[in-house]
Amino acid sequence: MESAEIARRFLRFFEERGHQVVPSASLIAEDPTLLLVNAGMVPFKPYFLGQRKPPASRLATAQKCVRTPDIDEVGKTTRHATFFQMLGNFSFGDYFKAEVIPYAWDLLTKPESDGGFGFPEDKLWATVYLDDDEAFDIWHNKVGLPVERIQRRGLEDNYWHMGVAGPGGPCSEIYYDRGPEYGKDGGPIADENRFLEVWNLVFMQEMLREVRTKVDFDIEAELPAKNIDTGMGLERMAAILQGVDNIYEIDTTYKILDKAAELTKVRYGRDARADVSLRVIADHVRTGTMLVADGVAPSNEGRGYVLRRILRRSIRNLRLLGSGEERYMHTLTDVAIDVMGEQYPELKADAPQIHAVIDAEETSFLGTLRTGTAIFDVAVEETKRKSGTSLSGDQAFKLHDTYGFPIDLTLEMAAEQGLKVDEEGFRRLMAVQKENAKADAKAKKTGNADISIFGTLLEQAGKVDFLGYDVTEADAAIIGILVDGSTVPVAGQGTTVEIVLGRTPFYAEGGGQLADQGVIRTAGGEVEILDVQSPIKGLAVHRGRVRQGEIKVGDEARAEVDVERRRAISRSHSATHLVHRGFKNALGETAAQAGSENSPGRFRFDFTAAGAVPPSVLRDVEDEVNAVLINDLKVNAFYTSQAEARAMGALAMFGEKYGDEVRVVEIGDYSRELCGGTHVHSSGQLGLVKVLGEQSVGAGVRRVEALVGIDAFRFLARESLLVAQLSEQLKARREELPERIEGIVTRLRTAEKDLEKLRSAQVLQIAGELAAQARDLGGVSVVTHRAPDGTGADDLRKLALDVRGRFPADRPVVIMIAGAPSDRPVVVAAVNEAGRERGLKAGRLVGVAAKALGGGGGGKDDVAQGGGTRVESIADALHAVEQSIGEQFS
Ligand code: SER
Repeated sequence: MESAEIARRFLRFFEERGHQVVPSASLIAEDPTLLLVNAGMVPFKPYFLGQRKPPASRLATAQKCVRTPDIDEVGKTTRHATFFQMLGNFSFGDYFKAEVIPYAWDLLTKPESDGGFGFPEDKLWATVYLDDDEAFDIWHNKVGLPVERIQRRGLEDNYWHMGVAGPGGPCSEIYYDRGPEYGKDGGPIADENRFLEVWNLVFMQEMLREVRTKVDFDIEAELPAKNIDTGMGLERMAAILQGVDNIYEIDTTYKILDKAAELTKVRYGRDARADVSLRVIADHVRTGTMLVADGVAPSNEGRGYVLRRILRRSIRNLRLLGSGEERYMHTLTDVAIDVMGEQYPELKADAPQIHAVIDAEETSFLGTLRTGTAIFDVAVEETKRKSGTSLSGDQAFKLHDTYGFPIDLTLEMAAEQGLKVDEEGFRRLMAVQKENAKADAKAKKTGNADISIFGTLLEQAGKVDFLGYDVTEADAAIIGILVDGSTVPVAGQGTTVEIVLGRTPFYAEGGGQLADQGVIRTAGGEVEILDVQSPIKGLAVHRGRVRQGEIKVGDEARAEVDVERRRAISRSHSATHLVHRGFKNALGETAAQAGSENSPGRFRFDFTAAGAVPPSVLRDVEDEVNAVLINDLKVNAFYTSQAEARAMGALAMFGEKYGDEVRVVEIGDYSRELCGGTHVHSSGQLGLVKVLGEQSVGAGVRRVEALVGIDAFRFLARESLLVAQLSEQLKARREELPERIEGIVTRLRTAEKDLEKLRSAQVLQIAGELAAQARDLGGVSVVTHRAPDGTGADDLRKLALDVRGRFPADRPVVIMIAGAPSDRPVVVAAVNEAGRERGLKAGRLVGVAAKALGGGGGGKDDVAQGGGTRVESIADALHAVEQSIGEQFS
C-alpha cells in the first residue's frame, strides 16, 4: 500500500466518523516555544489549552513533522527519521478513551478490502499507563485484547507532553509484532525493535507548567476539557504494509536512496557503513526539501541551522560514499520532489526555488570543506611538529564551530594522517556551547502563562478587527491593559503598558511591514504607542508609555495612527511588491521572496537566487519599476480563496500556502500578490524608487535595499551634489570623471611602485660596500649592519641574502642585518653553506640578538628572523652576535 493511500484511508475513516479533515500546517511552528512542528497536535495546542475554539470538536490530519534530537540515530536503526508524517484524530472535549480505543482497533484490523489496514489481531499489543485501569479495561473487555498483550508502563513511555510547557496526559500505545526474526518475545517492554510502535493515543487532560525532562515536570491544572490526541507514524505503517525492513526502504524514501546509490556507484546492502550513509541521505534529502518548501532558509541559528545541518550531513555522507567534488544534491532533490509531490503538489510548483536554495547551500558547503581542509592541514602540521599524536579538542572544536567541519570528518581525515583526535576535549567544548545555547533559548522562551493571558484577552475582545485598511483613526474600547505581562485594571503616567482594544486602526508588525506608531487617548489619559504586535492570531497588542493621566480597562478610547509614518511604510510596501515582480521578470520564477522589511521611506527585500545579481539587472529592474510609477497604476485589494488566488497567478511568499481565505493586492496588471499589509492607492504615490545595491544574506538568498519617495529623491540629490563637488575639484566635466579618476589612480600606483623599487635599490646599493667591510672572526667572514630606520623587514632580508651571495662559496659567512621598520627592532641573520658546515646556525644567532633586544625569534639554520622591543639596544645586539661567534671560534 502506497504512503499516499495510507494517509487517504486514515483520513477517510475518521471523516466517516464525524471528523473534519484539516490540511497539514506549515513545518514552521506558530508556537514561540517550538522551532518546528514535531507532532500532529502542535497546530492545535491553543485548542487543547482552551485558548482558542477549534473549527470543530473532531478533527483529523496528516501533519508534516520534523524531529532532530535523535539525528545521530538516523540510518542506524530501522525507525528514526528526521521528517515524518503523523496521522492523527483529535477530540476537543468530545469523545474520550471509551471511543478512541475501539476506533483505533477497528481501523487497524478492518480488512484492506473494507478500507482498513488489515492487521491480524494476534499481532497487535497495547500498553497503558501504570494505573490507568480504565484504558486497560477498555482494551480487555471492550476490544477483547487478551491481558497478556496489554502491558503497563511508567511516565517514560506512557505519558506524553510536548517537551515544553503545554498540554499533556497519559497515553496508550499500540504495537505491531514483526515476528521472532526481529527480536525476542515478551511484548514492547521486552523489545521495541521487534514490537514496533505504530499508534499513540494520548488522553490529553493536564496543563504542564514547566517541563524539565520526559519524566520530570510540574502539572499546573486539569485542562478545561478531556481531549484526545492521537499520532500514527505514516512511515512506520508504510514499512509494515509494504513489507520492508525499515522506514528508509518505503516508497517515499527508497527512490532517493536508490538514486544516491546509483550516483555514487555503491550497492545498497553490501557494506554496513555505506548502507547507513545511504539511509541518512534518503532521510535528510527529503527533510531538507520539505523544510525549504515551507520557507526555511539555511542559516546559523534556529530552524535555519536545523536545515543547514541536515543538508550538510547529506552532502557529507555523499562524500563518504566517494562523491568527491561532484554535486549530486540537485538530482536527489528532484527525486524527493517527485516522490512527495503526490501528497504535496506545491513542491512541484516551487521546484525552482527549492533547487536554488539547496544548490546554493551545496556550493557553500563544498567551499567550506575546501577552506576547512586548509585549516585542518595547518593543525596537522602543528601537531606533528610538536611530535604530538592527537589533534587537540580545541582544534577540532574550532574546525567544527568556525568552519562547519563535522567531527566525524575531522576524525576521518585525522586518521588518514595517522593522528587521533581528543574527542573528549571536543565534546566538553560542545557541551559548554550547548549549555550556553540552552540558556539563551530559555531566556527567549515565552511560557504558557504569557500566551494564555493573550488567549483570555482574545476571548474577551472577540476577534480584534483591523480597521487600518480604510481609516487611520477610530473609537474603540480598552479591553485589557498589561504591565510586565500581567493584567491590571488601570495604569498611570509613566507606566510602560500593553493595551488591547476591541478594534484598531493600528497595523501590527507582520508580513515584513513594521508596526504603526501613534497615540491612544481616553478622557483621562494619553498613551504614546511605539509598537504593535500580534502574539496570537487575531489579537493586536499596542505597546507604549502612558504620557499623561491614567487609562482604565473599559475606557472608551480614540486610537490615532501617525499618518505620515504609515504612508511612508505603505509606500515601501507597495514598492516591495513592484520590485518582487521586477526581479521575477528579470531573473525568472526562481527569484522568490524570502523575506522583507518595509519601514518608512526604505525597504529591504530578500529573495532566492543562486548567485550575485549583476548591476545591469539591478538597473533594469529599477528602470522597469519606475516606469510603473509613472503609469500610475491603481492598487486594489480583495479577498478570495487560496486556490482562486493561485489560479490568478498571485505571488505568495515562498512557503506561504496555508489558510483558506487570502487577501490579494494587485497593482494594475503588473503585480498580484497575497498580502495582509497596507498599500498606497495608486503607484504614482510612490514618487521614486532607488535601488541601493544587493548583497548575500546566506546561501541562496540575496538582499536588495532601496529607498522610496522623498528619501529616494534626497539620496539622489546628495549624490548629485557629490558629483558636482568632484567635478569642481578635478576640474573635469561630469562624464569625464570616471576616466579622470582612473588616470589618477593608475599614476598613483605606478609612482608607488617606482618609489618601492628605488628604496630597494638604495638598500641593496650598499650590499657591495658591506661585503667589502666584512670582518674575519676565526676564519669566518662576519658582516653586521644597522639599516636606516624605516627599512622594511623584507628589505632587511633581501639585503642579508644579497650580501651573503657576494662571497665565494667555500668561504664561511655570517650576515646580520638589524633595523627598525617601525618602533620595534628586527634582526635578520643569514649563514651560507660553508658557515653551516662550521656549525654556525642563523636561528641560534638571531636568538642571541633577540635576547639583547628584549624579544625572541629563531628559525632555520640558513636564514632566520627575530625581533624585540628595545630599538636602543640594536648596537648591543649586533655586538653580542659578534662576540658569540668570536667565542665559538677562539
Ligand atoms: N502527540 C502524540 C505524539 O506525538 C500523539 O499524537 O506521539
